Amino acid sequence: MTTTEAGTTESWPEEQPHTAPGTRPARFGEPLPDELRDPAEKLGREEIRALQLERLRATLDHAYANVPLYRRKFDEAGVRPEDLRTLEDIARFPYTTKADLRETYPFGMFAVPRERVRRLHASSGTTGRPTVVGYTDGDLSNWADLVARSLRAAGARPGDRVHVSYGYGLFTGGLGAHYGVERAGCTVIPASGGQTARQVQLIQDFEPDLIMVTPSYMLTLLDEFERQGVDPRSTKLRAGVFGAEPWTEEMRREIEDRMGIHAVDIYGLSEVMGPGVASECVETKDGLHIWEDQFLPEVVDPITDEVLPDGTSGELVFTSLTKEALPIIRYRTRDLTRLLPGTARPGMRRMEKVTGRCDDMIILRGVNLFPSQIEEILLRVPALAPHFQIHLGRRGRMDHLTVRVEARQDSGPEAREAAAAVVLKQIKDTIGVSVGIEVVDPDTLERSVGKIKRIMDERGK
Ligand code: DLL
Repeated sequence: MTTTEAGTTESWPEEQPHTAPGTRPARFGEPLPDELRDPAEKLGREEIRALQLERLRATLDHAYANVPLYRRKFDEAGVRPEDLRTLEDIARFPYTTKADLRETYPFGMFAVPRERVRRLHASSGTTGRPTVVGYTDGDLSNWADLVARSLRAAGARPGDRVHVSYGYGLFTGGLGAHYGVERAGCTVIPASGGQTARQVQLIQDFEPDLIMVTPSYMLTLLDEFERQGVDPRSTKLRAGVFGAEPWTEEMRREIEDRMGIHAVDIYGLSEVMGPGVASECVETKDGLHIWEDQFLPEVVDPITDEVLPDGTSGELVFTSLTKEALPIIRYRTRDLTRLLPGTARPGMRRMEKVTGRCDDMIILRGVNLFPSQIEEILLRVPALAPHFQIHLGRRGRMDHLTVRVEARQDSGPEAREAAAAVVLKQIKDTIGVSVGIEVVDPDTLERSVGKIKRIMDERGK
């Protein structure tokens, strides 16, 4: 798990010279002026902690009083909301998992009367029942505020146009982004996912300043620009707000260089709210500030469940602090990261870019590895395109992993062979395991239109 600590601001290609205030290029990549910050963004660490404690007490009371599952779990653990005296006391309360949401499907964890639920979202869930989440008017308003805050952190300003290519529908990406754009005083272009050729046309015609999209679909859009013979750097886009799936610093560089924009990270999950739980600030690009006025993060050991100190990698756990319809207590996200002190927003901690999910960890002949480690290695090899899949199969009784990756348009047989050898050596040297590789022709692997599926597990077939 290697993640670059330093931001990439310095290596930003052809940074525009800062021109007079108010003109467009100067706004991007600059710190957010004080007057555009939410009051919570100006609080110091101790003020944030005091606010969290007050809100956490209210959330525990609300959950215990209104959700039978929480009441049962608290009772079984022998804790009451009034046992919380300090923020650290949260460790005495039980965790919540996806299984709890499934068990109470569809509305069993809602804490308000049905008529106060203004919107539902659901995660498709590759296995079992979907998880259903709900929002009151107040929840929707807070969510829009946080996405608006995330957009400003990425460099958006009132009056900007924002192209939203996250999917609309039960997925929280599209509508979550949508109302945040409006709340930020920007113009929303609700493109949703798919119809890639048309999206490229709209980006040229409507001249958005920002785009919100999964990083893998951004690559699909980039290829489409090139297929149409349009230079992707020629658009008016200045920044992209990318999330919903893990992506590496190498991917950031690929997108920034090819698209000529700042690429910042946005994180969230439906069970906790949706996009906008944490977001990167464009001036530092050093991990995502968690909007701690609304969420309390912890990092725990995924095996022993023990709470880990800040700075140590583990599984991210969230407790909501303001949610009404679906208060969520110590939700196990399965996402792996670590907590770091705030920088651009000193009162709120950052989370390092998510390296992967516990569920995506591949154990290959005893060695743990994540798709993000393969991505890091592939994207450093110039002859290879950033499109790849990981195929898991069996050879005899042994598991075998094959990386299937596309060559860049201009790389011939020799370059491909040399690239394959470099990748195999690097995987062996840094991850410590032997794998296979197939370098395939450009445009042969399936493209993403939303969240990409990286791992193809063919072991059971
Ligand atoms: O993916 C919400 C979202 C939409 C976030 C748009 C950002 C942008 P879910 O479908 O519930 O919600 O999936 C949540 O996606 O637990 C992570 O594993 C992964 N994920 C989300 N953002 C990031 C990110 C949305 N920035 C799951 N980096 C989470 C890495 C991410 N993984």
